[in-house]
Amino acid sequence: MCGIIGVVGSSDTLETLLEGLARLEYRGYDSAGVALVRPGETWRARTAEGTESVKALREECDLAPLGFSSGIGHTRWATHGGPETMNAHPHLDCSGNIAIIHNGIIENHADLQEQLEARGHVFSSVTDSEVLAHLIEESRANGFELIEAVRRSLLVVRGAFAVAAMDATEPDVIVAARRISPLIVGTAPGVTYLASDIPAILDRATAFYAVSDDEIVRLAPEGFRAIDLEGVPVHLHPLAVDWDLETAEKGGHDDFMTKEINEQPDAIRTTLLDRRRRDGTITFDELRVSDEELRDVRRVVIVAAGTSHHAGLVAKYAIERWARVSVEVDIASEYRYRDPIVEIGTLVIGISQSGETIDTIQAIREAKRRGARVIAVTNIVDSSLARESDAVIYTRAGLEVSVASTKVFLAQVAALELLALRLAQLRDTVPASDVDAHFLGLNAVAEQVATVLTRRSSVEDVAKQLLGARDFFFLGRHVGFPTALEGALKLKELSYLHAEGYPAGELKHGPLALIEPGVVVVAVVTDPAMHEKMLSNLAEVKARGATVVAVATDDDESIAAIADYVLRVPATEPMFSPMVDVVPLQLFAYAMARGLGRNIDRPRNLAKTVTVE
Ligand code: F6R
Repeated sequence: MCGIIGVVGSSDTLETLLEGLARLEYRGYDSAGVALVRPGETWRARTAEGTESVKALREECDLAPLGFSSGIGHTRWATHGGPETMNAHPHLDCSGNIAIIHNGIIENHADLQEQLEARGHVFSSVTDSEVLAHLIEESRANGFELIEAVRRSLLVVRGAFAVAAMDATEPDVIVAARRISPLIVGTAPGVTYLASDIPAILDRATAFYAVSDDEIVRLAPEGFRAIDLEGVPVHLHPLAVDWDLETAEKGGHDDFMTKEINEQPDAIRTTLLDRRRRDGTITFDELRVSDEELRDVRRVVIVAAGTSHHAGLVAKYAIERWARVSVEVDIASEYRYRDPIVEIGTLVIGISQSGETIDTIQAIREAKRRGARVIAVTNIVDSSLARESDAVIYTRAGLEVSVASTKVFLAQVAALELLALRLAQLRDTVPASDVDAHFLGLNAVAEQVATVLTRRSSVEDVAKQLLGARDFFFLGRHVGFPTALEGALKLKELSYLHAEGYPAGELKHGPLALIEPGVVVVAVVTDPAMHEKMLSNLAEVKARGATVVAVATDDDESIAAIADYVLRVPATEPMFSPMVDVVPLQLFAYAMARGLGRNIDRPRNLAKTVTVE
């Protein structure tokens, strides 16, 4: 997730930008840059030094001329184009007068770039963002003032953006706009700010305003005015901000985990952006494996650890169902020591949020050594896993700080299910109309997750009732099984309570002996095809005195008769349900851990990235 900042009317422009960028550090970045604008002159500095980029930028800025009262700054988390200086923001138009920064993804950038190049524009990066600078340049050349030029440009772009633009021929004005990606405006006497998050301008602005989707704001030293995409004036909502810096970094929440749980709808949306061409073809820009190789895959082996392993288990159901290829899912730390079989046509998928988990890296090294083609699914651009694999698909969930993984799980499932659909297209195993329907269904999941998030307090009420419990079994069938595993893992690591995930059908083969009064059984019962069987499993545990918590769909009337507590979710296509059904389980684990006074973001004994075997 890139970070953006801008200021107009400041006597301390550069320091405001550099300090603000440093304060956006928690969003994660691989490069950074600033542009300063005054009449007839745009000055720019950029660095691509990984997590040292902001520090390096400060050194570069020692050379900056004095006397600029306006500027924009950016920390980049690469999506399109590698983390190199030429891809760092701000980007300039052909004249060098217009500078833009952008957080998000322009879905139709390839078409737009082709059209712009045909009209003579020269591009100097391989980002999706640069098209914005050239589109604005064209409208400015037609005589439109900057706010109108930005508005016209945004009418032709698809995707997500928080964008800010300046022009040396209209100095002391910044025009900013948003869709999906976050953007706020701040004011102080004679100075106006913009930023992706409050911390960047917390100590400087005295009033804060939220920019909503498809709103465009013109910032000048004396204040701002806003319009919508039709050009109609709009008012920005004031934000009450009485946070210290630490609270501000957590988006006003008590901890990063809450922030990250709330970011889940956007994690899905951004992971899905830009993945389908107009002709319906599912596409991954970063995937450097040819269509022929993917079509000829005979067997898929997934290696991963922890939560990423659970995402892999969901992927097995999707790939086997849609692409009709057999899939084996292995715990990464087991794979390399069991003399694995790699035959011609074996595709290995390594899944890792961090891209640095040593078990997963060692597993893919072993697979490569034996001749497999390896695809990485990771959240971190240029991570070791990404570099060592033949190809990579990035989840675009943004930096995850809390040790317990939440939003990246949803993004991993979304990315892997997309890959399953791509394999199905190549192998012709699902009719085109069904692929389209699945793609639309996948896109609808973000909204369903948002709905579940509005029900947080009802999950908290259930957790309050169960605070004294010490033993939990999480049950599910089909993709409800990995969902159950993930629910159990969240409860274990956050609350330190004993929790086990099981396929519901396996219960009677042993674990049923453990069921007695006081044990809590949490069951995922959202799949209509599994419903009857799940209810009979629940009857078995009820008969032995267990307390039953069910994750069930809004329209499920029969569940109330058997479950002691019901966590409601909107009904979704079963294959997508793990992304929806896991959310009440995350909230439940969180509420239990809070109730027990645990350290939410840093559970005992655990590290965010496990780099030792
Ligand atoms: C659980 C959790 C861990 C990680 C595991 C793999 O909430 O965070 O189980 O999922 O350590 O990490 P990555 O995905 O970085 O390889």
